[in-house]
Amino acid sequence: MSTHEHDGERGARADESAARDEVSGAPASSGDARSASLDVTPDELRELARVFNELTLDYIESPTALPVFPETSAEAVAEIFRRPLPFEGADARSLARDCAEIIRHSRQSRHPRMFGYVASPAAPAAALASGFAAALNQNVTSWRSAPAATEIERTVVRWLAEMIGYAGEGSSAVCGGLLTSGGSMANLNALFVAQRTKAREAARDGAQDTSRGAQDISRSSAQDTSRGDAHDPSREGLWSAGAPMTVYASDQIHLSVTKAADILGIGREHVRLVPSDEKFRLDVRALRERIEADARAGLRPFCVVASAGTVSTGAVDPLADVARVARERSLWFHVDGAYGALAASVESKRELFAGLGEADSVSLDPHKWLYAPIDCGCLILRDPLRARTAFAGTEEGYIKIFERQEDEAFAFWDYGLELSRPFRALKVWTILRYYGARRVSASIEEDCALADYMAGQVGASDDFELLAPATLGICCFRYVPTGARRELEDAEDEEKHERINARLDELNARVMHRVQRGGVAYLSNAVLRGRFALRASITNFRATRRDIRVTLDAVCRAAREVEKE
Ligand SMILES: Cc1ncc(COP(=O)(O)O)c(C=O)c1O
Repeated sequence: MSTHEHDGERGARADESAARDEVSGAPASSGDARSASLDVTPDELRELARVFNELTLDYIESPTALPVFPETSAEAVAEIFRRPLPFEGADARSLARDCAEIIRHSRQSRHPRMFGYVASPAAPAAALASGFAAALNQNVTSWRSAPAATEIERTVVRWLAEMIGYAGEGSSAVCGGLLTSGGSMANLNALFVAQRTKAREAARDGAQDTSRGAQDISRSSAQDTSRGDAHDPSREGLWSAGAPMTVYASDQIHLSVTKAADILGIGREHVRLVPSDEKFRLDVRALRERIEADARAGLRPFCVVASAGTVSTGAVDPLADVARVARERSLWFHVDGAYGALAASVESKRELFAGLGEADSVSLDPHKWLYAPIDCGCLILRDPLRARTAFAGTEEGYIKIFERQEDEAFAFWDYGLELSRPFRALKVWTILRYYGARRVSASIEEDCALADYMAGQVGASDDFELLAPATLGICCFRYVPTGARRELEDAEDEEKHERINARLDELNARVMHRVQRGGVAYLSNAVLRGRFALRASITNFRATRRDIRVTLDAVCRAAREVEKE
């Protein structure tokens, strides 16, 4: 159909829909029709729906139809997609052909042997609901802009809190938070709230110390800008903030925490990386020592970040012990559970997360272990008012809220960075409404059992060496050929050990790349105590024991090929 024909029909349809305007009752006349619109005819709409539905259904129904990683190159991909701006439109069938190319040139997150990074296949119900959310196109800034979506988001945040056993003071209904694009944004948001809260507490305490009696935090900081401890960073920035404020985390912390410190002006070197123990968990004694040393040196410790599932090995820090340190020193206690916190919903893993409930804030990612399509992270705060205070600024006229009832006056911009926000909550809501929390937790438990199974297979094989315990759903190991194994056993000094290990690092890096490009399975890597590890992260509700065996076979095959090169 030509573009011209489209336009003619569109005009007619605009008239029709105006005539059907049931709400205003205003009469339509032919002169009201738009000459340009992106609306489509009912037939075109059905054709578009058919095309995208078929693509989606085929994709979901055939998870192993294509290699995990496409046999392609940047050049081949650019050849297909790097095209001039299309000034004229195309029909749905031609879009479908392009989409088929997109599928063929994508890494297949749907595949049962996708074990790289932290990537889960999208739960089918949530994938389908995402199209609906896009059609609704709610801008979830506030209740007045998206009443249902706002209530649903506030509800799912509480559901997630309940799933992981994170009850705010008294009950889970007290805590609150918001959905974010992912764990990095949730951590940035958390660190911002932590820094502002603690800076203001210090300002208040400083003001009280000088017995000026100022109760109003903002007034007290505004009155005394010359003192570091009476400084209000929101108003003045960090230019005259006094001694650096410091954050504590283990050396296994996710890069998003140091990045957040950089963005917030805290400075990367003021994230004090404390050594982890032999199981890659934060060493609490070292934590105490570092905090005390910094405080003695005049720095201002304000926050400790513990991992509930480190990105490299899935280790869970001793949260209860970290909570105690935070309490004793009045530090903000943030838990980065972007990867692992949802495993707290699994009965057999709950013990690992003891102390989680004491955190001031928790990040967790539905787009990881709730199997929600990207993007969807979440930040939960024990006391959401802290976020509100942290983000409080001058209210611009154009976003002023006129609603008087508390829930109707609710706005997410008071709690986070974004103003325009998508209806992310629909994915989470669909997963929990359709599958139920029990079924999701059962799948997480099975993922963990598969990581355990893989660790068992690795341990029982002469080809491999396990490099970290499989605490949650991650298995880290390396390929060690018989010769190198013997050499390691015989090596009498550190230097020789180091040389053999360096060779193994290089070998394993090449093996990983070969496995990835081979398309049978997909692994990524971790660097553990300086050693290169192959890393399988299982957040994949399609994976089975057979997939684990096939993956290990693929690693062995790749290793033999690399050794022959
Ligand atoms: C522990 C941890 N924190 C934070 C993140 C960052 O999450 P995102 O990639 O959603 O920004 C990740 C990602 O893997 C993670 O594993």
